[in-house]
Amino acid sequence: MTTAIIGTGGIGSAIARRLASGGEALRLTSADHVSARKLAAEIGRDAVVAVDDRDALQGAGAVVLALRFPVLKGVIDEIAEPLTDKLVVVPSNPVGIDAQGNIERLLPEGRSSGEVVAGWLPAGAQLAMAFGTMSAGLLESSSNRSPEPAVLFYAADGDRAGEEVERLIRTAGFEPVKVGGIEQSRRLEVGGDLHDLVVGPAEARSLIGAA
Ligand SMILES: NC(=O)c1ccc[n+]([C@@H]2O[C@H](COP(=O)([O-])OP(=O)(O)OC[C@H]3O[C@@H](n4cnc5c(N)ncnc54)[C@H](OP(=O)(O)O)[C@@H]3O)[C@@H](O)[C@H]2O)c1
Repeated sequence: MTTAIIGTGGIGSAIARRLASGGEALRLTSADHVSARKLAAEIGRDAVVAVDDRDALQGAGAVVLALRFPVLKGVIDEIAEPLTDKLVVVPSNPVGIDAQGNIERLLPEGRSSGEVVAGWLPAGAQLAMAFGTMSAGLLESSSNRSPEPAVLFYAADGDRAGEEVERLIRTAGFEPVKVGGIEQSRRLEVGGDLHDLVVGPAEARSLIGAA
């Protein structure tokens, strides 16, 4: 199956490598295409570079928007119409760097990134907040762990988004565990209790129940 990855920086390139290692075909794009071309050359024949963000969606059933939070809305507006029947996976954390170099949250307390992104998407798009709980390095080093697989938590509303993102998470070499609906995505973000964790399925399920 084919997945588009818009944004091939730190996390987008790690997700692309993991998905390609599981046999997913990829359509890649980035702002100036340099990082997308480099990544496609590294991955080989399973990855092609799209002409632009909209072209990346051609023939793809899912799209990963691996973009910094302030860029997300503009890209979603640009590609809104072809998103209507697709799984939209968002790993973005709502954080930036302030003038002193410290991490700052870009949303008011109490608002999760998932709820905000859901409000930007067209009707029919299937949103899953996923692949943003680990650093790119941890994502690469924790995939296909044995004997016990590592978990990737996700948040999604509805069965279709859940089934489709679970397929991608397994393709990337992880066991999927749902934290809840999109409103629960705050737990996955920077500062959330499920962020930056590498745990197996039993521990993951007990952590979910513990909150
Ligand atoms: N890096 C991590 O370890 C990590 C882990 C978990 C979650 N996250 C979250 O993931 C998000 C992305 O982080 P990152 O570290 O991957 O950022 P990044 O390294 O800056 O990558 C951002 C990517 O977005 C691309 N881009 C920007 N504008 C675009 C546009 N209009 N169309 C297409 N592509 C565009 C950039 O293209 P160019 O390459 O051409 O500049 C770049 O490839 C953030 O919200 C972050 O919090 C990151």
